[in-house]
Amino acid sequence: MKLWRAAFLYDPPTEPVAQQSDQWNRGRELVNGAGHCAACHTPRNLAGGRDLGSRLAGNLALPGGSSAPSIQADDLLADDWTVANLAYALRTGITPSGDAFGGSMVEVVQMNTKFLTPRDLEAMATYLPEGDALIAAQ
Ligand code: HEC
Repeated sequence: MKLWRAAFLYDPPTEPVAQQSDQWNRGRELVNGAGHCAACHTPRNLAGGRDLGSRLAGNLALPGGSSAPSIQADDLLADDWTVANLAYALRTGITPSGDAFGGSMVEVVQMNTKFLTPRDLEAMATYLPEGDALIAAQ
């Protein structure tokens, strides 16, 4: 475990990015830190470490055989996600097409994101559709 931690554990970025709004920075901290969104949405290598070159690009091999789609900006925007409908989905589990989240994302909403304040939900929903270009640049 010590070796694995040394190889794969990293602190999420918490230093604010100066040219971004407070809301964006708050969203970045929540998505990459307390929200643990990358635990399922970032692919893992054979040793179980997250592939940091593909942050939030989706994971086709979640434990139990399910998969989590990409939540990188381009993919979210292509799938009609907006700040408003993303914040709504993280609170209610209902997606823009009127469908409901399935798989382990149900638990994420039920046990985590539905308890966030509207301000924090909006912060995550602001960061996600704009965030990955900046993350990749760091
Ligand atoms: C325990 C694993 C897990 C975690 C942690 C997780 N997700 Fe998910 N997520 C999923 C799965 C599985 C799906 C696919 C749901 C489905 O099939 O309906 C999904 C779907 C999504 C989608 C829909 C994407 C699309 O285009 O269909 C969004 C948006 C999303 N998650 C955001 C988040 C955010 C934000 C976080 C962090 C707060 C997060 N997820 C944490 C497993 C997870």
